[in-house]
Amino acid sequence: MSVRFSLTAGLFTNNEISDETKLAVEKAIEEANTTLFRKGVPRGVDVTEVGQITGFHISKNSIELNFESGTYTRAHDALFRFKKHVAPVLGTYRLGIRGIDVKKFHITMAGVPDGVRIPNLPFIKSHTLADGELTLDLKVTSADLENKVPDRILNLIEEKIQATNYGGKGEHWELVFASAQKPRSFTRDPTEEMVKRNWIRHGASRGQWIHGPQSVQLFRAFEQIVLERIIRPLGFAEMIFPKLTPWEVWMRSGHAKGVYPEIYYVCTPKTRDPVFWEDVGDYYKVTGIVPVEMIREKIDGPIGGLCYAQCPSFWPFVQGETLGTASLPVKVFDRSGTSHRYESGGIHGIERVDEFHRIEIVWLGTAEQTVDMADKLHDAYHQVFEEILELEWRCARVTPWFMAQEGMVDTGKTPQTVEGGACGCGERVGTTDYEAYLPYSDSWLEFQNVSINGDKYPKGFNVKIQSNEPCWSGCSGVGLERWTAAFLAQKGLDSDGWPDMVKQLVGEPEEIFRFM
Ligand code: SER
Ligand code: ZN
Repeated sequence: MSVRFSLTAGLFTNNEISDETKLAVEKAIEEANTTLFRKGVPRGVDVTEVGQITGFHISKNSIELNFESGTYTRAHDALFRFKKHVAPVLGTYRLGIRGIDVKKFHITMAGVPDGVRIPNLPFIKSHTLADGELTLDLKVTSADLENKVPDRILNLIEEKIQATNYGGKGEHWELVFASAQKPRSFTRDPTEEMVKRNWIRHGASRGQWIHGPQSVQLFRAFEQIVLERIIRPLGFAEMIFPKLTPWEVWMRSGHAKGVYPEIYYVCTPKTRDPVFWEDVGDYYKVTGIVPVEMIREKIDGPIGGLCYAQCPSFWPFVQGETLGTASLPVKVFDRSGTSHRYESGGIHGIERVDEFHRIEIVWLGTAEQTVDMADKLHDAYHQVFEEILELEWRCARVTPWFMAQEGMVDTGKTPQTVEGGACGCGERVGTTDYEAYLPYSDSWLEFQNVSINGDKYPKGFNVKIQSNEPCWSGCSGVGLERWTAAFLAQKGLDSDGWPDMVKQLVGEPEEIFRFM
């Protein structure tokens, strides 16, 4: 895609520019155009692609410059290169540069399809899109230019173009394995059956269930299976990951790019002074209504959100560290709390909830170790689903969870920067979803996943390994609601129809409540 940058900026000096200085500046411009801006540009690149000063005007206290470029020594990079180049020249005449005033910054892109969503940002004053040519009129300061805002806007627009091109194609899905069909004797909706038997009841919040003793017995049985058959034999150690995730973590994990529509946001009080809050309680006392608007005035944030993907909040534990070779692969898991997603509205069963329970398994090491652990997990899960749960299941390569959660489109290429090692690891980056057949709706339910996340997290959280090889990581989320939904949908709620081990682990159902 052809891109042009056009910039007009003034360099302000702290004193008047003499005629002699003018000549020296003109010489510096000439040098910049002929040599300085060409530095680092690969041979064979068309000169029109390389940044140039195409015009200038020197007045009493300023040097106004026009820059034009393609994608090499972009106009704004040329500006800073020139500033550095001309500063010592001005210095010899006892002049200093006081500041930079960005007067005009245009980006023109060709080949932009109609229907691309142009970002609505304070940096974009206006835009036009005609005959596939997009022109952006930017409103930027020199600090924005130093912060590479134009380059990021360009990347963002390229991302939006990809979204337009791939938008209709849906997410990636490629079958890896399918079990044999299992007997399909039970055909009812397990959620409805669980509600009928008071195993679960709706919580007061959206997409939330209160799990009665029988439901928890099943959860704990499944946890036990995961612990005994997967987590312990493979040597994972239990940790407790925080369940409030601040922006700092989501900035490093990539979620800050696009998880916003699904977050449960968390706010903090502006102060914990009871006097500051007295009005709120008083209002409630006399009206019986919680004054939400009044509360909004008295809180800060949001500072982040409730746990969403579970593994990101592990990473600050190792952030900035170098891990010793002998400790690798590091293998941990967390089952200490809920995850929360603002799901689409409407009536859903326990398979689609705003508050859910998951065992999150995380490992990190070299690329080979990471891929090897994923393979071991796949084997262990395979055994559990075949031999213990006797499920009808399948697994498929899908859009990597981290891309889906960042709202990135799946172009079929994961953003993996490390070349595959001996194991062809680069090819293996991504997510495998496990799905179970639901006879009552003749559909398939994703009930857990295993992912090789490449170097994304170690890079994001600046984690290295002693050998200096690239550090990789993986994670696997075992959704307890989803396991329950899948298991009960296939086996029914009567334990007579359940495989022996599950029956044993669940034990006699605890009937505690008698509703009259
Ligand atoms: N963190 C992964 C996910 O959110 C696995 O649980 O899908
Ligand atoms: Zn994870």
